[in-house]
Amino acid sequence: MKIESSRIVVTGAAHGIGRGLVEAFLAHGAQSVVVSDLDADAVSAMSETLGVPGRPCDVGDQAALAAFIDWAEETAGPTDLFCGNPAVFGGPEGGNLQTSAATWDRSWRVNVLAHVWAAQCLVPRMLRRGGGHFLQTLSAAALITGPSELTYTVTKHAALGFAEWLALNYSDKGIRVSCLCPTAVETRTVQGADHPGIGLVQTPAEVAEITVAGLAAENFLILPNPRVGSSFRNKADDYDRWLAYTTNRLGDLRPPSPFTF
Ligand SMILES: NC(=O)c1ccc[n+]([C@@H]2O[C@H](COP(=O)([O-])OP(=O)(O)OC[C@H]3O[C@@H](n4cnc5c(N)ncnc54)[C@H](O)[C@@H]3O)[C@@H](O)[C@H]2O)c1
Repeated sequence: MKIESSRIVVTGAAHGIGRGLVEAFLAHGAQSVVVSDLDADAVSAMSETLGVPGRPCDVGDQAALAAFIDWAEETAGPTDLFCGNPAVFGGPEGGNLQTSAATWDRSWRVNVLAHVWAAQCLVPRMLRRGGGHFLQTLSAAALITGPSELTYTVTKHAALGFAEWLALNYSDKGIRVSCLCPTAVETRTVQGADHPGIGLVQTPAEVAEITVAGLAAENFLILPNPRVGSSFRNKADDYDRWLAYTTNRLGDLRPPSPFTF
């Protein structure tokens, strides 16, 4: 898909990778970008600064997400590219086997079901219009299990499963799906300088440029850090060897490290 002249909707847009995507889409000549975020003040400030329509929306609330999508299409017209960007980490207990039902429920809603609900709204409309594209911001943790964040890792894997299902069932009908799977990106969540051991740390702007290229190529997987592709291949080649190697390599990194890769 070409960003130029596309009508794009981004959720979780006010900070970090979401904001980087919005800025890149505008720089690449998007016809419109409509934004939302849980953080009402930040989305309002972003709207004003970048001149993009925006309003608050919690993607973990199905009715609110559907209402936002309706509003975005009334405001800017049919959506060519829908970007489902936010996620919740499990919080202090999210790397722990005894994680509460409430934390699991919130993680499923924001990290998995929000992608399903967006597709339920938009796929029928996109099919009538001749096609459309979904970008899901996932994580390397969707492909390769890391040391911590049980709820995050499991739900990111599930979101990847949904993306595969969507692509398999609808790509021949004009629906494209791309999954952005970064490792460490310098945002509010991850501060590379505070964690010198984590290897390549990219900026939201770098990740957004790689994403624009991946969308143009209609790639299903967009991997800003090439190491993820080779780790994923190693895992597929020999699961037992990968499990043994990773268990050994992670060692002391297991909970409570905030990192998933
Ligand atoms: N930063 C990283 O290193 C990294 C690595 C891999 C994947 N990711 C993924 O990138 C995405 C964005 O993360 P980020 O690092 O930019 O985080 P961030 O905290 O910088 O930005 C996330 C944005 O989403 C918003 N948000 C949070 N919950 C929301 C909800 N329920 N509804 C709507 N908006 C909500 C926040 O207000 C914020 O503006 C997530 O899906 C995350 O899993 C991040």
